[in-house]
Amino acid sequence: MDTCHEVNDIRPSSIRHIVGQSSVVKQVSVALDAAFADARRFDSALLVGPPGVGKSALAAVIAAEMASDFHEVLGQSIKSPADLNALLLAAKPKDVIHIDECHELKKEYQTSLYLAMDKQTLVVLSAAGAPPISLPLADFTLLLSTTDEYCLLQPLRDRMKLLLRFDFYSVEELTTVVVQRAKGLGWDVEETAFPMIAQRARGTPRLALRLLQAARRVCRSQGGQTIKLKHLETACDLEGIDGAGLGPTEQKYLAILAAGPTRLNVIASTLGLPTRTVSQVTEAFLIRAGLVAKDDQGRRQLTQQGREHVQLMSKS
Ligand SMILES: Nc1ncnc2c1ncn2[C@@H]1O[C@H](COP(=O)(O)OP(=O)(O)O)[C@@H](O)[C@H]1O
Ligand SMILES: [Mg+2]
Repeated sequence: MDTCHEVNDIRPSSIRHIVGQSSVVKQVSVALDAAFADARRFDSALLVGPPGVGKSALAAVIAAEMASDFHEVLGQSIKSPADLNALLLAAKPKDVIHIDECHELKKEYQTSLYLAMDKQTLVVLSAAGAPPISLPLADFTLLLSTTDEYCLLQPLRDRMKLLLRFDFYSVEELTTVVVQRAKGLGWDVEETAFPMIAQRARGTPRLALRLLQAARRVCRSQGGQTIKLKHLETACDLEGIDGAGLGPTEQKYLAILAAGPTRLNVIASTLGLPTRTVSQVTEAFLIRAGLVAKDDQGRRQLTQQGREHVQLMSKS
């Protein structure tokens, strides 16, 4: 019997475990070597890319490679100046602070953050009437992750030394991610299932690993030990995922466009989703995969390949 039940029971802990994203990996390797040569902390970096492509995984790897303590928060969880102060004051020299979804960080905290970085000092307002207190900050590394770098204040963006842009993964790269994870977890998987998982993962490691987990759930529910293609197929049927990996939301998006070119806000309200989610999560991959294109007026329309996919959808 295997001991790991969750796909996230293991995670990449070294830069060697990061599959694909060769330009990001090269940039990080150079920065790691430079930090070691100068006995310095890692340079501050902005990690940009769609959800689930490995930004948080890389942030944790950077801390592990630097043998530094890792402090991670979500931008939206910083709700008061005290939250931000506590985060910054807890960091020791060379520690890594990762603010995930940093576009959710209120503008006033983004300002406090870059001012604090410039002066390596935190100015804390004390009780009414008393003068503010200046507290020294450790020389830490700040990593910021976002799906949309332009939602950050320019002065904060400008202070990040490295800009690490992530992209979607190829089917081969995703196959490697899934093989590596299954092996690490000690899960027995039929060889032919790996590329099928990768093909349905919309270029995204998180989705590939979710499918692996879903296939395992079906396998175990039937008392099986080896995860097989048929388990993956049942898992996809249960979740309404088609052969190209499109789920109910993506299929509905394509069906809306089948009626003709449509604007983003109309699509979003029909889907009942925020425009941001539609542009950065739902359609980013569909455009990249060549199923959807934008015209000069920003309207979305199906490509020939998109129309063929809709025809397949209507047959099944
Ligand atoms: N390049 C990669 N190599 C190996 N595993 C990866 C890679 N990128 C992402 N993963 C795995 O995929 C999942 C989602 O990645 P995550 O870092 O949470 O994405 P993001 O922060 O960009 O939303 C995690 O389980 C992570 O370990
Ligand atoms: Mg993340």
